[in-house]
Amino acid sequence: MALMRVEAAAGQYQVRIEAGLLERAGRIIGETIGSRRLFVVADEAVWACLGDRLAAGLEGLEWTLLSTPLGEPRKRLATVEELCDRMHRAGADRRSAVLAFGGGIAGDVGGFVAASYMRGIDAVQVPTTLLAQVDASVGGKTGVNLASGKNLVGAFHQPRLVLVDTDSLNTLPEREYRAGLQEVVKHGIIRSGELFAYMERGHSAVTRRDTVAVERMIADSVRIKSEVVRIDEREGGLRRILNFGHTLGHALEAETGYGLLLHGEAVAFGMIAAAKLSELRSRLNAADRERIEETVLSYVSIPSLEGLDARRIAARISGDKKSVGGKARFVLVDRIGSVSEELDPPEDCVVEATQHALQVCSLPAALVV
Ligand SMILES: NC(=O)c1ccc[n+]([C@@H]2O[C@H](COP(=O)([O-])OP(=O)(O)OC[C@H]3O[C@@H](n4cnc5c(N)ncnc54)[C@H](O)[C@@H]3O)[C@@H](O)[C@H]2O)c1
Ligand SMILES: [Zn+2]
Repeated sequence: MALMRVEAAAGQYQVRIEAGLLERAGRIIGETIGSRRLFVVADEAVWACLGDRLAAGLEGLEWTLLSTPLGEPRKRLATVEELCDRMHRAGADRRSAVLAFGGGIAGDVGGFVAASYMRGIDAVQVPTTLLAQVDASVGGKTGVNLASGKNLVGAFHQPRLVLVDTDSLNTLPEREYRAGLQEVVKHGIIRSGELFAYMERGHSAVTRRDTVAVERMIADSVRIKSEVVRIDEREGGLRRILNFGHTLGHALEAETGYGLLLHGEAVAFGMIAAAKLSELRSRLNAADRERIEETVLSYVSIPSLEGLDARRIAARISGDKKSVGGKARFVLVDRIGSVSEELDPPEDCVVEATQHALQVCSLPAALVV
């Protein structure tokens, strides 16, 4: 069991990581934010798997279920409006709180509902995917997609409490779990050589979802992400290191039309490319670049990227919203556990690194057939 405190400008909040928390959610929420009327914004599919357990945990509290089908196409303002309207009709007021239940999409949508309903009410995050547990539920970013791009409308709204029940991973599909592991590997590369080494040597425990391994990965990730976010809540500087692997990862997601790859799989590709770029820019040695590649690929199977063109992927980067004034920002590795930014590395290096990642990810061991 781990109990962490995250510091944010709006105040501190707790992240609890433990098996069996769903059944105890109501008591912990009551102790932390007091007795409130709760509106549970739930991913319908997650509610079908885990709803009974959360419902048992909320017994005795006043709560209303707002279950809805989610998924990237539903991560839209229309869904937020629909949920706010359902809350209003059910009598939600300023003292009510939202409990977001599901993966990163439920967290982003539920969090944004909380940020906007009556100009902001309290939010409790109960993430159920590994990705949401190690990344999305901490840090306060909430929001939705526009037809023209992902995550373009949103708000910073810190939760009051995050409850991570490691047992909720028991029903998570293998592919989703493996995609989430990539964000853990990322946290190791950017800030903790120790976590990275654990991911290298702990492969067997990690892949069988051993409770101790899962708790450790989540606790280390939450610690690393919350340290970074405490120093730079609104992404003025340091927070951008969390984008390691995301510059080319986002470009690949866009190039493949968002349907082919899970986000974590695209990040795996992006990390391999960024590590190669770090080597080409004489920051990282070849041995550590290889360690990164091997570890990333040991946890993920990437769908076939045959026929993709490195130049086209690289060319997308200047259109990314994280670029400034047309300059591409890359987070590059200086050594495992330490990264820094480079603005506008030479285009031919970016293309070469992208080409390398395409090749490495197309090796038979890396492919899903
Ligand atoms: N706010 C942030 O800081 C932040 C950070 C990273 C990602 N995100 C966002 O998170 C989203 C991706 O999150 P995700 O990968 O968790 O996707 P997701 O929420 O779509 O969940 C993935 C799939 O797993 C299912 N699922 C979730 N938990 C389950 C469980 N315990 N058992 C069985 N099935 C379960 C869901 O129904 C869904 O089909 C993206 O929209 C991304 O933009 C936000
Ligand atoms: Zn990510």
